[in-house]
Amino acid sequence: KGNETPVSVPQQGEPGLRLLRRVGVVDPESLDAYRASGGYAALRNALLLGPAGVIREVTDSGLMGRGGAAFPTGRKWDATARQPVRTRYLVCNADESEPGTFKDRVLIEGDPFALVEAMTIAAFAIGAQKGYVYLRGEYPRALRVLRNAVDIARERGFLGEDIMGRRGFSFDIEIRRGAGAYICGEETAIFNSIEGFRGEPRTKPPFPVEKGLFGKPTVVNNVETLVNVPLILTEGGAAYRRIGTERSSGPKLFCLSGSVRRPGVYEVPFGTTLGELIDLAGGVPAGRELRAILLGGAAGGFVRPDETTLPLTMEDARAEGTTLGSGVVLMLDDQADLGGFLLRIAAFFRDESCGQCVPCRIGTVRQEEALHRIVGGRKLGTDGDDLVVLREVGQVMRDSSICGLGQTAWNAIESAIDRLGALEEQS
Ligand code: NAI
Ligand code: SF4
Repeated sequence: KGNETPVSVPQQGEPGLRLLRRVGVVDPESLDAYRASGGYAALRNALLLGPAGVIREVTDSGLMGRGGAAFPTGRKWDATARQPVRTRYLVCNADESEPGTFKDRVLIEGDPFALVEAMTIAAFAIGAQKGYVYLRGEYPRALRVLRNAVDIARERGFLGEDIMGRRGFSFDIEIRRGAGAYICGEETAIFNSIEGFRGEPRTKPPFPVEKGLFGKPTVVNNVETLVNVPLILTEGGAAYRRIGTERSSGPKLFCLSGSVRRPGVYEVPFGTTLGELIDLAGGVPAGRELRAILLGGAAGGFVRPDETTLPLTMEDARAEGTTLGSGVVLMLDDQADLGGFLLRIAAFFRDESCGQCVPCRIGTVRQEEALHRIVGGRKLGTDGDDLVVLREVGQVMRDSSICGLGQTAWNAIESAIDRLGALEEQS
């Protein structure tokens, strides 16, 4: 039971759950139960619309990637579908490894057929015959539940050849497990890992939509992104777009953890304020005071308690110099050891750097060393200020690392210094 993540229960007056509506309610091991709760109506609609029609609906919906980078999904699908190459791939990124992120696990364990159906719709739209789910290795229950769903879907004609009686429409799913490396969640590192090479990122461009898995055009979508697709195909792109705000449409899952009364996965429309979301989870435990919130994960940034009026949208987060990332809301109270917390983040990036490029390989080590000296109250000696060292190393990593890991390894520490005034007393 230890690794069970609580899922939010709709409160009175809370907008209806969409992404989580089957989680904890419908048997995740039964295709019949899935169909009885509306499953596969979206794929039927997709087959009627045709590939171009599906891409149009997804584009109209305004759906953006939920893995962290918020790239428009319709654009990705359209770019892949247009490639003059017959073999195309779909990859579902389920290597959920961002600290404080556990929404994809809840979706897979609680509603696996929704992911299978969503991938089938995406494959139909982009013309892929093969899809991979790259699943985090530390998710054994998700593996079992998903494997069961894929097997049943295949037995019952929802995967394989002539899906749902549509002649010529073939698609199948293979599950690949990660082996514990954070970097293997980077989309091009996933390609290398699936192809049997070291899980190291490739340089972009070319983007996967042109040259991805096995050198072929590939769509990579996060689990949550895909699970939005059946909603769009049943409700319609225009109706979906009315959820949330004009520029950030749809429902969004957030993972609340740390100093919070009811940690778990919460679903709210974009535009809900951070304070409203925290209230849904019961706020900080009695006797504690909120000190800071890490938004967007280790690659994100801190928000102060007086900033909880922030509307949770991609654009508002960006304007505040942070990101919603993969939906992390990690709460720290007045008893938290902020210096120790930052050290954990620095150690994490140092540990998870794949070592391929110098700025990140060396920079993450130097960053941790400088932070250690500051938090430990020791000075650098003749060279002076360790905060200057941190800033310079951070900037070099941001400017010259190959992939997002190195580019963002300094984000949280920088924002703790600039927004929370952390390390002031030590430096
Ligand atoms: P990115 O901005 O490089 O790309 C986002 C997506 O858009 C990719 O699929 C990319 O191929 C595509 N794309 C970008 N420009 C394109 C173009 N011109 N044409 C076609 N496709 C294009 O971001 P990246 O490195 O893929 O992801 C970074 C994010 O991942 C961060 O925001 C971080 O929060 C998140 N992340 C999430 C984790 C998780 O566990 N969910 C773990 C680690 C990071
Ligand atoms: Fe590897 Fe870091 Fe370079 Fe990314 S930035 S390729 S993780 S060394």
